[in-house]
Amino acid sequence: MIKVENLSKHFGKIKAVDAISFEVNARETLVLLGTSGCGKTTTLKMINRLIEPSGGKIFIDEKNIFEQKPEILRRGIGYVLQNNGLFPHYTVAENIAIVPQLLKWDKKHIEKRVAELLEKLHLSTDYLTAYPNELSGGQQQRVGLARALVADPSVLLMDEPFGALDNVTRSKIHQEFKALDELKRKTIIMVTHDVQEAFELGDRICLMDKGKIVQDGTPAELLFKPHNDFVRGFLQEQRLQLEFKAIKLHDLWAWLPAPQPPKRGAEITDDTSFWNGLEQFKFSASETLNINHGENSEVRSASFEQLMSAFYQYKKQQAHE
Ligand SMILES: Nc1ncnc2c1ncn2[C@@H]1O[C@H](COP(=O)(O)OP(=O)(O)O)[C@@H](O)[C@H]1O
Ligand SMILES: [Mg+2]
Repeated sequence: MIKVENLSKHFGKIKAVDAISFEVNARETLVLLGTSGCGKTTTLKMINRLIEPSGGKIFIDEKNIFEQKPEILRRGIGYVLQNNGLFPHYTVAENIAIVPQLLKWDKKHIEKRVAELLEKLHLSTDYLTAYPNELSGGQQQRVGLARALVADPSVLLMDEPFGALDNVTRSKIHQEFKALDELKRKTIIMVTHDVQEAFELGDRICLMDKGKIVQDGTPAELLFKPHNDFVRGFLQEQRLQLEFKAIKLHDLWAWLPAPQPPKRGAEITDDTSFWNGLEQFKFSASETLNINHGENSEVRSASFEQLMSAFYQYKKQQAHE
């Protein structure tokens, strides 16, 4: 869906982005991860032509984006700016309606779509006439997301979308983000410096350093098959928690007990991360988790203790391999 080839941006002598290449498949979430100044924002801005590159090519849906008018290109791309970028003198409704106004949607259509998005993002319609500074940080982020989603673009670029939030709000918004139907159909590139966030939300991660991509892979690949010491070092500090997020319930299948009927409990699929499996116990009162195998519709179920035990058995086996 998105193909970036040898993309560079030089500011004078600074190589902000240095000949990077990567691809994003349709409906995939790719995370650009790295410390401040490594070139994430510059990369993102080149993809919707807010910054013109010094070299390289970008294709979206097989079309060379530099052969399109920027305004036309941007209609197909939702952009969530770093620090949400809402217009302070526009109300919530006006902020969300910017693109529909440009596209000259009729008033009814705009109102309907804005209301629909507010509901999906759990914002009361009471806020329609509020100004951004009257909202909490989390609410502002939701409005920023609504604004990017309003015209239903197939591509979404997000620059540190949850960066300014406290941990509790962030983890709540992460849950919602993963559950939002509108996002499941989108091809997403998200920028973050937060390793945990990258592991929670990314199907794949490009770890960047000094304008280059050091490794491009799934969270599990970065964790268990790091290309070099930089990758290893970057993930070291929070390693256990990252393992919780990188390992899928599917990986633990051999150690999960078969259900003993009749057992009731929350149901999830085996492509859920171990971390989200544990979260089920936090969010539902259930004592068992029923896990559905995506391919053969087999079911296994586990208590919290059984799930933890499966994780440690899996780890033990990994260590012997
Ligand atoms: N307009 C600019 N002029 C000069 N240098 C810039 C400009 N924009 C970004 N840079 C530099 O390019 C590098 C990458 O910046 P950026 O892409 O914003 O990093 P990140 O988003 O990863 O924090 C940094 O060294 C930054 O100082
Ligand atoms: Mg940035």
